[in-house]
Amino acid sequence: MNTHELVRTAQALVARKKGILAADESNPTIEKRLQSINVVATPETRRAWRQLLLTTPGINSFISGVILSDETVRQKSDGGVSFVDVLASQSIIPGVKVDKSTRPLANSPEESITEGIDGLRERLNDYRIMGARFAKWRAVFTIGPHIPTSYCLDVNAQAMARYAAICQEAGIVPIVEPEVLMDGDHDIKRCFEVTEATLYRMFDELVGQRVLLEGMLLKPNMVLSGKSGANRAGPDEAAEETLRCLRRTVPAAVPGIVFLSGGQEDYEATINLNAINRRGQDAPWQLSFSYGRGLQSTPLKAWGGDPNNVERAQQSFQHRAQVTSAAREGIYTPAMEKETKAVGSR
Ligand code: 13P
Repeated sequence: MNTHELVRTAQALVARKKGILAADESNPTIEKRLQSINVVATPETRRAWRQLLLTTPGINSFISGVILSDETVRQKSDGGVSFVDVLASQSIIPGVKVDKSTRPLANSPEESITEGIDGLRERLNDYRIMGARFAKWRAVFTIGPHIPTSYCLDVNAQAMARYAAICQEAGIVPIVEPEVLMDGDHDIKRCFEVTEATLYRMFDELVGQRVLLEGMLLKPNMVLSGKSGANRAGPDEAAEETLRCLRRTVPAAVPGIVFLSGGQEDYEATINLNAINRRGQDAPWQLSFSYGRGLQSTPLKAWGGDPNNVERAQQSFQHRAQVTSAAREGIYTPAMEKETKAVGSR
């Protein structure tokens, strides 16, 4: 294992002012996103959307790496250049989602298990040859009256750590993404409890399977009130609780935490990241982002599937990335948001 390279790559992904674009939606998920703008999902429309994002001028000032899907990692730009090379030529690190999505958990079907360990070693070697230098694996935990169970936390933590260990063996930085969903009417205290239990279990297993903490990144949810809850906590409380939870559970050796946006409104994802960075100046890890919807929702609407709107959508994406980068530094202001909205809705 080339530990120096792993550590260097992990650090580069959380370089100051920069974060990650998650453009790795599975085909069913990107189909839903494209349907929302009345575009039929095909390999070609998915390619057109991802090309728009990856060729946005100046994006490398704000984006350190992009997570691609297995389909996109094999696709090319209109000019015949592989998307991996399109990124590498801008000094953006190419990554790939390697899990095979979730299935109902046997004997607890309300919960899910992430699959994809079979054949992973071989797939990672192929991705590495194609140019990928980091990977992502997502486990999903739903909050309910009696879930998540410790059974669900255990099996997902074991799979996640196994994935991370195999990635590092292949010279690929693993991003581990244990997502506690914000769906539901639970309060922020309940989200704290579940996120804390999940991360404790996760790191116990990562250490047990000898994962190099300096050569990985954590992609967690923020600690938030449930989406449909009453009196939802504001950004200050969310930031306090998120940092309190992470300080308890995440070893200081991990170079960075890259939050997912998880269905927050663009504005909410930005303002919460800003609040976390303002309060977390003395945190031992970089506090950055790995947003999917938080970076793509506004530009997707600006595009609407129309080739004439490519430039407008790219401006919108550029601004979205810029304000998220400002939030990652704790220097975001609402005035910047107005500017973004103006671009996105022109
Ligand atoms: P969201 O930011 O839209 O939650 O997507 C991040 C991601 O990679 C989900 O796996």
